[in-house]
Amino acid sequence: MADFNSALWSIVIAAVTVVSILALLWFTWSQAAGRRPTAGQKVETMGHTWDGDLAEFNNPLPKWWLNLFYITLVWGLGYLIAYPGLGAFKGMLGWSAQNQYDAEVAKADATYGPLFDKYKAVPVEQLVNDQEALTVGKRLFATYCTQCHGSDAGGARGFPNLTDNDWLWGGTPETIEQTILNGRQGAMPAWVAVIGEDGVKNVASYVEHLAGRQVDAATVEAGQKVFSTTCIACHGPEGKGNALMGAPNLTDDVWLYGGSHERIAESITKGRNGHMPAHREFLGEAKVHLLSAYVYSFAKGNAPAQ
Ligand code: HEC
Ligand code: HEC
Repeated sequence: MADFNSALWSIVIAAVTVVSILALLWFTWSQAAGRRPTAGQKVETMGHTWDGDLAEFNNPLPKWWLNLFYITLVWGLGYLIAYPGLGAFKGMLGWSAQNQYDAEVAKADATYGPLFDKYKAVPVEQLVNDQEALTVGKRLFATYCTQCHGSDAGGARGFPNLTDNDWLWGGTPETIEQTILNGRQGAMPAWVAVIGEDGVKNVASYVEHLAGRQVDAATVEAGQKVFSTTCIACHGPEGKGNALMGAPNLTDDVWLYGGSHERIAESITKGRNGHMPAHREFLGEAKVHLLSAYVYSFAKGNAPAQ
């Protein structure tokens, strides 16, 4: 039914287009024909008079002007035969915006692909010493990563700082590359339904204690009870985190979602689900390899100047 409907609409719209063009042709022709005065005949006026004696001749359009109209109309018809535009008809040339885009991408890949491939075989450990490779990586980062991680890779709330050598998922060249290729999904459950609001308050204070802040002893004790039953599976018995599931270290006072008591309590109450999109399909392995080198260069203190 849907197919039938869209075919019908396509025909209706194509018919409206064709009829309009034919009507314009007829109109243009009707304006030219019949009114050309023969030799000696007086040209009629339009019948109005302004300012006493100012009248307008009813002359047909000049030939050259008229021909311009004909040319545009014929051009329009030719265009509709060659290119998409007439209902759902795809045009004889088979052109589409998608085809053109694909062709341009293929051409860019053919031109720039070898530039990226040249680095693909070089291990990241070596690329971090190659300023030219890092500069290419930096440009890629500026195009594809800054909207989330910031132009200096310094991150923002919910988007990790990539320059501080503090890693959710691990900071070896291999894990960084896996992160960018396959993406990552942080999964911190919401806890308020399980441990109650008091439980959240206490365990949030315990997390502050883990991060080295002054918290009163009774609260620490209450919070630790909750922590050791509910949180250690992911954050570890000492709260140092687990890179296998992207569970952050809670002892280092580096925060993805903010380190005030309120922010920590919010993380625990509502849970957190940071999502790093996969880039394998989108960018290809060669570009991701260069991006990994660029990200890794911060940890090595080797990043190109901003
Ligand atoms: C749509 C936003 C978004 C874009 C675009 C994005 N990222 Fe991420 N990225 C994130 C988020 C969110 C996380 C944290 C995931 C989590 O909470 O576990 C992350 C995590 C990471 C990590 C892991 C950090 C760690 O501490 O382990 C790396 C490395 C990374 N991104 C690099 C990149 C690179 C390189 C690009 C560009 C190709 C990029 N990201 C593009 C949102 C994004
Ligand atoms: C199932 C594994 C899991 C459990 C259990 C878990 N967490 Fe988490 N937690 C995570 C992950 C993964 C993240 C990072 C989420 C993200 O990247 O978006 C996180 C993030 C956090 C954060 C935010 C850290 C920051 O840097 O902003 C806090 C605070 C936290 N957890 C505390 C707790 C507490 C307290 C408990 C126990 C009540 C707990 N978590 C239980 C996996 C877990």
